[in-house]
Amino acid sequence: MPESATSIAAASRALGDGELVAFPTETVYGLGADASNTSAWAPLYAVKARPSAHPVIVHFASAARAFTWARVVPESARVLAQTFWPGPLTLLLPRAAHVLDAVTGAQDSVGLRVPSHPVALQLLRAFDQDLARMPALGIAAPSANRFGRISPTTAQHVRDDLGTDVSCVLEGGACDVGIESTIVDCTRAVPVVLRPGLITAAQIDQALKKITPSIAQPATSSARGALAQQTSTTHAGSHHTPRVSGALASHYAPRTPAHLIETHALDTAIARYAGHAAVLAFSHPDERVDFWLRLPRQPEAYAQGLYAALRELDQAQCQVMLVEAPPDTPEWQAVLDRLRRACHVASASDTQ
Ligand code: TXA
Ligand code: MG
Repeated sequence: MPESATSIAAASRALGDGELVAFPTETVYGLGADASNTSAWAPLYAVKARPSAHPVIVHFASAARAFTWARVVPESARVLAQTFWPGPLTLLLPRAAHVLDAVTGAQDSVGLRVPSHPVALQLLRAFDQDLARMPALGIAAPSANRFGRISPTTAQHVRDDLGTDVSCVLEGGACDVGIESTIVDCTRAVPVVLRPGLITAAQIDQALKKITPSIAQPATSSARGALAQQTSTTHAGSHHTPRVSGALASHYAPRTPAHLIETHALDTAIARYAGHAAVLAFSHPDERVDFWLRLPRQPEAYAQGLYAALRELDQAQCQVMLVEAPPDTPEWQAVLDRLRRACHVASASDTQ
Protein backbone atom coordinates (compact mmCIF):
# COMPACT_ATOMS: atom_id res chain seq x y z
CA MET A 1 0.00 0.00 0.00
CA PRO A 2 1.46 3.45 -0.85
CA GLU A 3 2.45 5.55 2.14
CA SER A 4 -0.24 8.19 1.61
CA ALA A 5 -2.96 5.51 1.51
CA THR A 6 -1.66 4.07 4.79
CA SER A 7 -1.72 7.43 6.51
CA ILE A 8 -5.19 8.27 5.20
CA ALA A 9 -6.48 4.95 6.53
CA ALA A 10 -4.72 5.51 9.86
CA ALA A 11 -6.09 9.05 10.09
CA SER A 12 -9.59 7.84 9.34
CA ARG A 13 -9.28 5.17 12.06
CA ALA A 14 -7.97 7.77 14.51
CA LEU A 15 -11.02 9.96 13.82
CA GLY A 16 -13.26 6.94 14.39
CA ASP A 17 -11.52 6.43 17.75
CA GLY A 18 -12.39 9.98 18.81
CA GLU A 19 -8.93 11.42 18.14
CA LEU A 20 -8.02 14.66 16.37
CA VAL A 21 -6.46 14.73 12.90
CA ALA A 22 -5.03 17.85 11.25
CA PHE A 23 -5.48 17.75 7.48
CA PRO A 24 -4.94 20.04 4.49
CA THR A 25 -7.76 21.73 2.63
CA GLU A 26 -7.39 24.09 -0.32
CA THR A 27 -8.05 27.06 2.00
CA VAL A 28 -6.15 26.40 5.26
CA TYR A 29 -5.33 23.31 7.34
CA GLY A 30 -8.19 22.04 9.48
CA LEU A 31 -8.18 20.35 12.88
CA GLY A 32 -10.61 17.49 12.37
CA ALA A 33 -12.80 15.52 14.74
CA ASP A 34 -15.71 13.12 14.21
CA ALA A 35 -18.62 15.56 14.15
CA SER A 36 -21.02 12.93 15.51
CA ASN A 37 -18.88 11.90 18.48
CA THR A 38 -19.49 13.99 21.60
CA SER A 39 -16.32 12.73 23.27
CA ALA A 40 -14.18 14.13 20.42
CA TRP A 41 -15.30 17.67 21.27
CA ALA A 42 -13.52 18.26 24.54
CA PRO A 43 -10.07 17.61 23.01
CA LEU A 44 -10.94 19.79 20.01
CA TYR A 45 -11.86 22.80 22.12
CA ALA A 46 -8.96 22.19 24.48
CA VAL A 47 -6.39 22.13 21.68
CA LYS A 48 -7.92 25.12 19.88
CA ALA A 49 -8.33 26.97 23.18
CA ARG A 50 -11.59 28.13 21.64
CA PRO A 51 -14.79 29.12 23.47
CA SER A 52 -17.13 26.12 23.33
CA ALA A 53 -20.14 28.16 22.17
CA HIS A 54 -18.51 28.77 18.79
CA PRO A 55 -19.89 26.72 15.90
CA VAL A 56 -17.66 24.58 13.69
CA ILE A 57 -17.86 23.75 9.97
CA VAL A 58 -18.55 20.11 9.08
CA HIS A 59 -16.77 18.70 6.02
CA PHE A 60 -17.98 15.98 3.65
CA ALA A 61 -16.83 14.34 0.41
CA SER A 62 -19.94 15.29 -1.58
CA ALA A 63 -22.94 17.60 -1.55
CA ALA A 64 -25.29 14.62 -1.30
CA ARG A 65 -23.56 13.48 1.91
CA ALA A 66 -23.32 17.03 3.29
CA PHE A 67 -27.01 17.70 2.79
CA THR A 68 -27.91 14.76 5.07
CA TRP A 69 -27.01 17.22 7.85
CA ALA A 70 -29.58 19.82 6.77
CA ARG A 71 -33.25 19.85 7.70
CA VAL A 72 -34.11 21.51 4.42
CA VAL A 73 -31.90 22.46 1.50
CA PRO A 74 -33.05 25.71 -0.12
CA GLU A 75 -32.64 26.01 -3.85
CA SER A 76 -29.99 28.71 -3.34
CA ALA A 77 -27.83 26.17 -1.48
CA ARG A 78 -28.25 23.53 -4.18
CA VAL A 79 -27.22 26.01 -6.83
CA LEU A 80 -24.19 27.23 -4.90
CA ALA A 81 -23.12 23.67 -4.08
CA GLN A 82 -23.46 22.66 -7.71
CA THR A 83 -21.44 25.66 -8.84
CA PHE A 84 -18.68 25.84 -6.22
CA TRP A 85 -18.30 22.41 -4.53
CA PRO A 86 -15.87 20.90 -4.11
CA GLY A 87 -14.27 24.22 -3.28
CA PRO A 88 -13.69 27.07 -0.81
CA LEU A 89 -17.32 27.73 0.11
CA THR A 90 -19.22 27.04 3.34
CA LEU A 91 -23.01 27.02 3.34
CA LEU A 92 -25.05 27.67 6.47
CA LEU A 93 -28.25 25.62 6.35
CA PRO A 94 -31.03 24.78 8.81
CA ARG A 95 -29.59 21.97 10.95
CA ALA A 96 -31.00 18.44 10.89
CA ALA A 97 -32.30 16.96 14.15
CA HIS A 98 -29.27 14.73 14.76
CA VAL A 99 -26.70 17.58 14.60
CA LEU A 100 -25.05 18.10 17.99
CA ASP A 101 -25.31 21.46 19.75
CA ALA A 102 -21.52 21.42 20.03
CA VAL A 103 -21.31 21.61 16.20
CA THR A 104 -23.67 24.53 15.82
CA GLY A 105 -22.98 26.46 19.01
CA ALA A 106 -26.63 25.63 19.83
CA GLN A 107 -27.84 27.69 16.86
CA ASP A 108 -30.44 26.48 14.39
CA SER A 109 -27.97 26.48 11.48
CA VAL A 110 -25.10 24.18 10.57
CA GLY A 111 -22.06 25.10 8.44
CA LEU A 112 -21.32 22.56 5.68
CA ARG A 113 -18.42 22.38 3.24
CA VAL A 114 -17.04 20.04 0.56
CA PRO A 115 -13.35 20.94 0.17
CA SER A 116 -11.44 20.29 -3.05
CA HIS A 117 -8.00 19.36 -1.71
CA PRO A 118 -7.30 15.76 -2.81
CA VAL A 119 -5.99 14.70 0.62
CA ALA A 120 -9.07 16.17 2.34
CA LEU A 121 -11.35 14.36 -0.11
CA GLN A 122 -9.49 11.06 0.39
CA LEU A 123 -9.81 11.39 4.14
CA LEU A 124 -13.49 12.35 3.95
CA ARG A 125 -14.24 9.39 1.66
CA ALA A 126 -12.32 6.97 3.87
CA PHE A 127 -14.13 8.24 6.97
CA ASP A 128 -17.59 8.13 5.38
CA GLN A 129 -17.20 4.89 3.40
CA ASP A 130 -20.61 3.40 3.96
CA LEU A 131 -22.76 5.43 1.60
CA ALA A 132 -25.90 3.61 2.75
CA ARG A 133 -25.38 5.10 6.20
CA MET A 134 -27.73 7.97 7.03
CA PRO A 135 -26.89 10.57 8.12
CA ALA A 136 -23.36 10.70 6.69
CA LEU A 137 -20.23 10.80 8.85
CA GLY A 138 -18.71 14.27 8.67
CA ILE A 139 -15.47 15.77 9.92
CA ALA A 140 -15.86 18.89 12.06
CA ALA A 141 -12.83 21.07 11.47
CA PRO A 142 -11.97 24.57 12.56
CA SER A 143 -8.70 25.95 11.22
CA ALA A 144 -5.80 24.13 12.92
CA ASN A 145 -4.45 27.14 14.84
CA ARG A 146 -4.97 28.24 18.42
CA PHE A 147 -8.00 30.49 18.76
CA GLY A 148 -7.45 34.00 17.43
CA ARG A 149 -4.08 33.24 15.83
CA ILE A 150 -3.09 33.05 12.18
CA SER A 151 -4.52 30.06 10.27
CA PRO A 152 -1.96 27.47 9.12
CA THR A 153 -1.34 27.02 5.39
CA THR A 154 1.31 24.28 5.66
CA ALA A 155 1.65 21.14 7.78
CA GLN A 156 4.71 22.72 9.39
CA HIS A 157 2.59 25.71 10.53
CA VAL A 158 0.27 23.22 12.25
CA ARG A 159 3.17 21.51 14.00
CA ASP A 160 4.63 24.90 15.00
CA ASP A 161 1.30 25.94 16.55
CA LEU A 162 -0.06 22.77 18.08
CA GLY A 163 3.17 20.89 18.78
CA THR A 164 2.60 17.52 20.39
CA ASP A 165 -1.07 18.26 21.14
CA VAL A 166 -1.99 16.64 17.82
CA SER A 167 -0.11 13.52 16.81
CA CYS A 168 -1.72 12.99 13.41
CA VAL A 169 -0.97 15.74 10.87
CA LEU A 170 -1.58 14.81 7.23
CA GLU A 171 0.82 16.42 4.78
CA GLY A 172 -0.68 18.19 1.77
CA GLY A 173 1.78 20.91 0.79
CA ALA A 174 1.02 24.63 0.87
CA CYS A 175 -2.67 25.50 0.56
CA ASP A 176 -3.66 26.89 -2.85
CA VAL A 177 -6.20 29.46 -1.65
CA GLY A 178 -4.48 30.47 1.58
CA ILE A 179 -7.43 32.17 3.32
CA GLU A 180 -10.55 30.61 4.84
CA SER A 181 -13.64 29.70 2.83
CA THR A 182 -16.36 32.15 1.88
CA ILE A 183 -19.31 31.61 4.25
CA VAL A 184 -22.81 32.11 2.85
CA ASP A 185 -25.85 32.00 5.08
CA CYS A 186 -28.55 30.21 3.07
CA THR A 187 -31.05 30.13 5.93
CA ARG A 188 -32.40 33.55 4.90
CA ALA A 189 -34.69 34.33 1.96
CA VAL A 190 -31.78 36.18 0.33
CA PRO A 191 -28.42 34.49 0.99
CA VAL A 192 -25.91 36.60 2.91
CA VAL A 193 -22.10 36.48 2.71
CA LEU A 194 -20.89 36.32 6.32
CA ARG A 195 -17.19 35.88 5.60
CA PRO A 196 -15.58 36.91 2.29
CA GLY A 197 -13.19 34.52 0.60
CA LEU A 198 -11.75 33.55 -2.77
CA ILE A 199 -15.29 33.06 -4.08
CA THR A 200 -16.59 36.62 -4.18
CA ALA A 201 -20.06 37.99 -3.46
CA ALA A 202 -20.30 38.88 -7.15
CA GLN A 203 -19.59 35.27 -8.18
CA ILE A 204 -22.20 34.00 -5.76
CA ASP A 205 -24.63 36.56 -7.02
CA GLN A 206 -23.89 35.50 -10.59
CA ALA A 207 -24.38 31.81 -9.85
CA LEU A 208 -27.73 32.42 -8.19
CA LYS A 209 -28.89 34.66 -10.99
CA LYS A 210 -27.89 32.23 -13.71
CA ILE A 211 -29.94 29.35 -12.38
CA THR A 212 -32.68 30.95 -10.29
CA PRO A 213 -33.22 34.47 -11.58
CA SER A 214 -35.95 35.11 -9.01
CA ILE A 215 -33.51 34.97 -6.06
CA ALA A 216 -31.19 37.78 -7.04
CA GLN A 217 -31.78 41.50 -7.39
CA PRO A 218 -30.53 43.63 -10.33
CA ALA A 219 -26.92 43.41 -11.46
CA THR A 220 -23.97 43.60 -9.09
CA SER A 221 -21.92 46.73 -9.54
CA SER A 222 -19.72 46.64 -6.46
CA ALA A 223 -18.41 44.37 -3.73
CA ARG A 224 -21.69 44.83 -1.89
CA GLY A 225 -23.52 43.54 -4.93
CA ALA A 226 -27.06 42.33 -5.17
CA LEU A 227 -26.59 40.01 -2.23
CA ALA A 228 -26.74 41.38 1.23
CA GLN A 229 -23.16 41.28 2.46
CA GLN A 230 -22.36 41.60 6.13
CA THR A 231 -18.66 41.17 6.04
CA SER A 232 -17.71 44.64 7.13
CA THR A 233 -20.63 45.21 9.44
CA THR A 234 -20.90 41.86 11.23
CA HIS A 235 -20.15 42.05 14.92
CA ALA A 236 -19.86 38.87 16.92
CA GLY A 237 -22.66 38.79 19.43
CA SER A 238 -24.89 41.38 17.76
CA HIS A 239 -28.45 40.20 18.27
CA HIS A 240 -29.28 39.45 14.62
CA THR A 241 -26.00 37.89 13.56
CA PRO A 242 -25.04 34.25 13.96
CA ARG A 243 -21.89 33.84 16.03
CA VAL A 244 -19.00 33.62 13.61
CA SER A 245 -15.64 33.56 15.35
CA GLY A 246 -13.98 34.83 12.18
CA ALA A 247 -16.15 37.91 12.63
CA LEU A 248 -14.47 38.94 15.86
CA ALA A 249 -12.74 42.26 15.39
CA SER A 250 -9.33 40.93 16.37
CA HIS A 251 -8.78 37.63 14.62
CA TYR A 252 -6.08 36.02 12.51
CA ALA A 253 -3.69 38.17 14.52
CA PRO A 254 0.10 38.10 14.65
CA ARG A 255 1.69 38.76 18.06
CA THR A 256 3.53 41.81 16.77
CA PRO A 257 1.25 44.88 16.76
CA ALA A 258 0.36 45.38 13.10
CA HIS A 259 -0.58 48.58 11.27
CA LEU A 260 -2.35 48.77 7.93
CA ILE A 261 -0.71 51.64 6.07
CA GLU A 262 -1.78 53.31 2.83
CA THR A 263 0.96 53.29 0.18
CA HIS A 264 1.46 57.05 0.32
CA ALA A 265 2.07 56.91 4.10
CA LEU A 266 4.46 53.93 4.09
CA ASP A 267 7.63 55.96 3.76
CA THR A 268 6.76 58.15 6.77
CA ALA A 269 5.82 55.11 8.85
CA ILE A 270 9.12 53.41 8.01
CA ALA A 271 11.02 56.54 9.00
CA ARG A 272 9.10 56.69 12.28
CA TYR A 273 9.90 53.11 13.24
CA ALA A 274 13.39 53.06 11.70
CA GLY A 275 15.10 49.80 12.56
CA HIS A 276 12.17 48.43 14.54
CA ALA A 277 9.64 47.54 11.87
CA ALA A 278 8.91 44.43 9.80
CA VAL A 279 7.22 45.34 6.52
CA LEU A 280 4.82 43.51 4.20
CA ALA A 281 4.52 45.45 0.95
CA PHE A 282 4.05 45.31 -2.80
CA SER A 283 7.18 47.29 -3.54
CA HIS A 284 10.89 46.55 -3.34
CA PRO A 285 12.68 46.43 0.04
CA ASP A 286 13.77 49.66 1.65
CA GLU A 287 17.30 49.59 3.02
CA ARG A 288 16.16 51.05 6.36
CA VAL A 289 14.17 47.88 7.04
CA ASP A 290 15.76 44.52 7.95
CA PHE A 291 12.64 42.37 7.66
CA TRP A 292 10.76 43.04 4.44
CA LEU A 293 8.52 40.68 2.50
CA ARG A 294 6.80 41.35 -0.81
CA LEU A 295 3.55 39.86 -2.00
CA PRO A 296 2.14 40.05 -5.55
CA ARG A 297 -0.36 42.66 -6.71
CA GLN A 298 -2.83 39.93 -7.72
CA PRO A 299 -5.37 39.28 -4.93
CA GLU A 300 -5.42 35.47 -5.36
CA ALA A 301 -1.62 35.19 -5.27
CA TYR A 302 -1.47 37.65 -2.36
CA ALA A 303 -4.02 35.61 -0.38
CA GLN A 304 -2.10 32.42 -1.04
CA GLY A 305 1.06 33.85 0.54
CA LEU A 306 -0.51 36.08 3.19
CA TYR A 307 -0.54 33.89 6.30
CA ALA A 308 2.93 32.45 5.70
CA ALA A 309 4.22 36.02 5.30
CA LEU A 310 2.54 37.23 8.51
CA ARG A 311 4.01 34.27 10.39
CA GLU A 312 7.48 34.90 9.03
CA LEU A 313 7.39 38.61 9.86
CA ASP A 314 5.97 37.87 13.29
CA GLN A 315 9.00 35.70 14.02
CA ALA A 316 11.28 38.69 13.47
CA GLN A 317 9.87 40.01 16.78
CA CYS A 318 10.05 43.63 15.70
CA GLN A 319 8.32 46.42 17.58
CA VAL A 320 5.69 46.77 14.85
CA MET A 321 4.58 45.24 11.60
CA LEU A 322 3.70 47.65 8.80
CA VAL A 323 1.40 46.25 6.11
CA GLU A 324 0.95 48.21 2.89
CA ALA A 325 -2.81 48.38 2.28
CA PRO A 326 -4.11 46.83 -0.95
CA PRO A 327 -6.67 48.83 -2.93
CA ASP A 328 -10.18 48.91 -1.44
CA THR A 329 -11.78 47.29 -4.49
CA PRO A 330 -14.17 44.30 -4.78
CA GLU A 331 -11.49 41.78 -5.72
CA TRP A 332 -9.41 42.64 -2.62
CA GLN A 333 -12.26 42.38 -0.07
CA ALA A 334 -11.34 38.95 1.32
CA VAL A 335 -7.68 39.92 1.78
CA LEU A 336 -8.63 43.30 3.27
CA ASP A 337 -11.00 41.59 5.69
CA ARG A 338 -8.15 39.38 7.00
CA LEU A 339 -5.68 42.29 7.07
CA ARG A 340 -8.08 44.53 9.01
CA ARG A 341 -8.49 41.83 11.63
CA ALA A 342 -4.76 41.07 11.74
CA CYS A 343 -4.07 44.78 12.11
CA HIS A 344 -6.83 45.37 14.63
CA VAL A 345 -4.48 46.54 17.35
CA ALA A 346 -3.41 49.75 15.71
CA SER A 347 -4.93 50.05 12.25
CA ALA A 348 -5.89 53.48 11.02
CA SER A 349 -8.98 51.85 9.47
CA ASP A 350 -9.95 50.29 12.80
CA THR A 351 -13.49 51.22 13.68
CA GLN A 352 -14.50 48.30 15.92
O1 TXA B 1 -11.77 27.38 4.98
C1 TXA B 1 -12.36 27.10 6.02
O2 TXA B 1 -13.53 27.39 6.23
C2 TXA B 1 -11.52 26.36 7.09
C3 TXA B 1 -11.22 24.94 6.59
C4 TXA B 1 -10.52 24.10 7.61
O3 TXA B 1 -12.39 24.34 6.14
N1 TXA B 1 -12.23 26.30 8.34
C5 TXA B 1 -12.39 27.38 9.12
O4 TXA B 1 -12.98 27.06 10.32
O5 TXA B 1 -12.04 28.49 8.80
P1 TXA B 1 -13.05 28.09 11.53
O6 TXA B 1 -13.71 27.35 12.65
O7 TXA B 1 -11.70 28.62 11.81
O8 TXA B 1 -14.02 29.17 11.01
C6 TXA B 1 -15.32 28.80 10.69
C7 TXA B 1 -16.23 29.93 10.89
C8 TXA B 1 -16.26 30.37 12.33
O9 TXA B 1 -16.15 31.77 12.34
C9 TXA B 1 -17.58 29.86 12.83
O10 TXA B 1 -18.11 30.67 13.85
C10 TXA B 1 -18.42 29.91 11.57
O11 TXA B 1 -17.55 29.49 10.56
N2 TXA B 1 -19.55 28.98 11.62
C11 TXA B 1 -19.52 27.64 11.54
N3 TXA B 1 -20.77 27.14 11.68
C12 TXA B 1 -21.58 28.19 11.83
C13 TXA B 1 -22.99 28.35 12.06
N4 TXA B 1 -23.79 27.32 12.14
N5 TXA B 1 -23.48 29.60 12.17
C14 TXA B 1 -22.67 30.67 12.11
N6 TXA B 1 -21.34 30.60 11.92
C15 TXA B 1 -20.81 29.38 11.79
MG1 MG C 1 -10.22 29.83 12.21
